[in-house]
Amino acid sequence: LAQDTAYSQPYRPQYHFSPRINWTNDPNGLVYHDGEYHLFYQYNPKGIRWGHMTWGHAVSPDLFHWKELPPAIAEDEKGMIFSGSCVVDTKNTSGFGKNGVVPMVAIYTNHRETNQSQHIAYSLDKGRTWTKYEGNPVIDLNQKDFRDPSVFWHEPSRRWIMSVVLPTEKKALFYSSTNLKQWNKTGEFASADTPGNIWECPALLEIPVVGSKRSKWLLFISIGAGTPAGGSGMQYYIGDFDGKAFRSDFKQGDVRFVDYGKDYYAAITYNNTPRKISLGWLNNWQYANDIPTNPFRGAMTLPRELKIVRGKNGYELRQQVVKEIRPLTSDSFQWRGLDTKELNRSLDSNRIKGETYVLTLEAEATGAAAGDLGVKVRKGTGEETVVGYDPVKQEVYVDRTRSGKTDFKKEFPGRFTAPLKREDLANGRINMQIFVDRSSVEVFVNDGLVTLTNLIFPKPDSQGFEFFGDGFRAVTIRNIESVWPE
Ligand code: FRU
Repeated sequence: LAQDTAYSQPYRPQYHFSPRINWTNDPNGLVYHDGEYHLFYQYNPKGIRWGHMTWGHAVSPDLFHWKELPPAIAEDEKGMIFSGSCVVDTKNTSGFGKNGVVPMVAIYTNHRETNQSQHIAYSLDKGRTWTKYEGNPVIDLNQKDFRDPSVFWHEPSRRWIMSVVLPTEKKALFYSSTNLKQWNKTGEFASADTPGNIWECPALLEIPVVGSKRSKWLLFISIGAGTPAGGSGMQYYIGDFDGKAFRSDFKQGDVRFVDYGKDYYAAITYNNTPRKISLGWLNNWQYANDIPTNPFRGAMTLPRELKIVRGKNGYELRQQVVKEIRPLTSDSFQWRGLDTKELNRSLDSNRIKGETYVLTLEAEATGAAAGDLGVKVRKGTGEETVVGYDPVKQEVYVDRTRSGKTDFKKEFPGRFTAPLKREDLANGRINMQIFVDRSSVEVFVNDGLVTLTNLIFPKPDSQGFEFFGDGFRAVTIRNIESVWPE
């Protein structure tokens, strides 16, 4: 591959991370250390389908300009390196630090056909090289399915806390440790109303509640199936954590999803940052091995800042793309008015087209008489991806049935919806931020209260726009520049 064409393929994300070659799934070990955001990820160094799981590695100063480094932790005779997390052991509780160098410690699942156990490894050179601990495993329950440890420092109890799952039992277990080597089980969390078949990739973190002095605890769980869009996706719970166990505030039957699109999985959050920032895998296990990209397969979602707000439905998660995206954007179209025909004519006469951009719209969504409103993006001959709001059904939707290449797997095409009740619209208005890249559409509705993330594979020249319905008040399109990894 010539260096200058490494990221130019038709479906290559231009401002989302994807590895230069080969397969990736979950983000792993998200941690900020010494001026660098680390992104480790499930990686197959030998091919473009899942296998030989190893931690790939990239670093960035701003979560957008990535530098891909050699794989960090490789599979060996003990097994594959499955998902996990990474901490900066500032107090050298592990004793891995030497000569005043603060160790980074990775906590991951070692996978064999018949056993999954938790292992640790450390790095004294900013994550570039890793040494596996000779005392591994640090937790082994003699289970076939027991994985995805997620660890953070809990100041009140002055301990490391791990959440980890028994996937087939749909249970999260909590452990604590003073040195990252000896772990004691302190609690469990399960929920009878989960639609999932298996639980994977837990993440537990404390988040201040917007506009209050309180904070709450958020638990992310990835579920293998049973999501609104079908296939794998994510649930969240909000509640409290006492240093031993997590308890959800949600009542039975109050099931919350992190994202209503079809391609949002295995998101975890950054350790060691004041902001709460998440990153997920932009894919779905139903067809992840079949998506038509080359010479890479798999990409990460946009990084999101997480907040908790107290709304009409109690505590709710609010997600917005981190502010670091702003310097990558430049204004290309702005419109204010009321007449949709005028809006479309204005796009036409200004020859506005786009492949990588963020489109912001604000509209009155005043009920049944108004009908659906929204915008078709990546529109070309026979192709369009429809993003809309249906005020009768009171739902937001993304329809990728005719979005481009969809026939590689029958589960791919479809129309995906998210509930958005009339009473949740402030002053009857809806706003959307739609991030479009070469092979994805991420929709953030009403300041991130509802999100829908989806892959699409349109022809490169399908770059048109068409608004439909009434009530638009303001529309902005900002171009987003390509940020190819070093
Ligand atoms: C989630 C997952 C994890 C596991 C990893 C293996 O997508 O199945 O549970 O650790 O992927 O690649």
